[in-house]
Amino acid sequence: MTEAKKLYVKTFGCQMNVYDSERMAEALVTQGYEQVDTADDADMILFNTCHIREKAAEKMYSDLGRLKPLHDAKPALKIAVAGCVAQAEGEEILRRQPMVDLVVGPQTYHRLPAMMQAVGRGERVLDTDFPEEDKFTLLPKDRRPARGPAAFLTVQEGCDKFCSFCVVPYTRGAEVSRPADRLLGEARDLVARGVREITLLGQNVNAYHGAGLDGGEWGLARLVRELARIDGLERIRYTTSHPNDMEDDLIAAHGDCEKLMPYLHLPVQSGSDRILKAMNRKHTAESYIRLIERIRAVRPDLVLSGDFIVGFPGETEADFQATLDLVERVGYGAAYSFKYSARPGTPAAERAGVDPAQADARLQRLQTLITAQQRATQEGMIGRVVKVLFEKPGRKEGQISGKSEYLHAVHCDGPATLLGQIALVEIIATQSNSLTGRLYAQP
Ligand code: SAH
Ligand code: SF4
Ligand code: F3S
Repeated sequence: MTEAKKLYVKTFGCQMNVYDSERMAEALVTQGYEQVDTADDADMILFNTCHIREKAAEKMYSDLGRLKPLHDAKPALKIAVAGCVAQAEGEEILRRQPMVDLVVGPQTYHRLPAMMQAVGRGERVLDTDFPEEDKFTLLPKDRRPARGPAAFLTVQEGCDKFCSFCVVPYTRGAEVSRPADRLLGEARDLVARGVREITLLGQNVNAYHGAGLDGGEWGLARLVRELARIDGLERIRYTTSHPNDMEDDLIAAHGDCEKLMPYLHLPVQSGSDRILKAMNRKHTAESYIRLIERIRAVRPDLVLSGDFIVGFPGETEADFQATLDLVERVGYGAAYSFKYSARPGTPAAERAGVDPAQADARLQRLQTLITAQQRATQEGMIGRVVKVLFEKPGRKEGQISGKSEYLHAVHCDGPATLLGQIALVEIIATQSNSLTGRLYAQP
């Protein structure tokens, strides 16, 4: 048997890229590759990239540049660029970086084996189609052993919303939902491999409308309920959602589906109706707040997170103040905030931007408020007993760490035998981004 070639994968961007990287690595196994943890002696390096903000895309180019010494030392080294920068800038990457052998978009990576054969013949390959065929049905069916008890599962991809700032509808393409039978099959397979928690992924995951088992169309709530019937699957999460797609049955599921975890990432972007309109979000601050109230009515302990953009073109101090007000009213357990980044090809990129220094100052103010809310949520956990799914050894000797139902990272002293299992933990302290607990023995 010939020795396996070494594949190093570096993933940028969102959770869907993490999932795609796994599937690409699996596809490359058929070409004699095995995945390794360092780039140093790799035979192939694959960057799975993100185009969401300018910084994310620039980081990819600088990281690529840094591969030069490795490439000089080993000219046979293959370099591939996948993901959303690949989709958006395909040819530009081949032009800017002569070392790159292969550029593959998010919808064509099932063709990697054939592409690698072309690369093997010395060709440089570019494939950023949006093909008719469904990549998931053509990828190797056999998933690798799970890397831990928590896994991602892409159920929906692409976006038809066209928020005026966002590249995703262009890089990922139109909204597509995978059929339920495939998803249930993949979920059962993951559970058989030790997975206890599945996070359903989609750029607009709550817009899921896939073919159901009964011939009809299923929404996300129905899919969640069917997944919940799988023995051994203990926890279900989903991300990322759009406020306009929070249907009644999904809200109801938060109240009565025990396996659906009490954490929801529901981006709002801004608290100003004027800016929301300019963003083409098609919801208002008030409709968002009412929606949150309805979800909290069925699940009062829900921890909520969100995304915000500050410094969107035309944002005034009053608009920004409306965002701060919304954050005050909602109360987030966590939230991500970004300075607006003009993306080529999006409608907002044509508009005059906010003074960068002002945008920086606003970002600071928003982040201070969010951090205070996050701290308050974490402090509110002290003294409570939560359920932790232990995923990995902790940083300190004798510690194990995992996630609570509220998605807080929790670490405590405990035996490695608990890895992969759920146990009760009493929270005793909080750090900036995690909680400390002790294993709780039922009295
Ligand atoms: N599909 C998800 C996430 C999209 S990207 C959704 O609809 O919510 C994740 C976050 O990046 C967005 O929620 C938004 O807050 C941010 N983002 C997207 N485009 C951006 C841009 N051009 N500049 C700054 N932040 C951006
Ligand atoms: Fe981008 Fe808006 Fe679609 Fe989210 S809903 S992926 S922010 S266009
Ligand atoms: Fe980035 Fe593409 Fe995800 S742009 S956030 S990797 S969908």
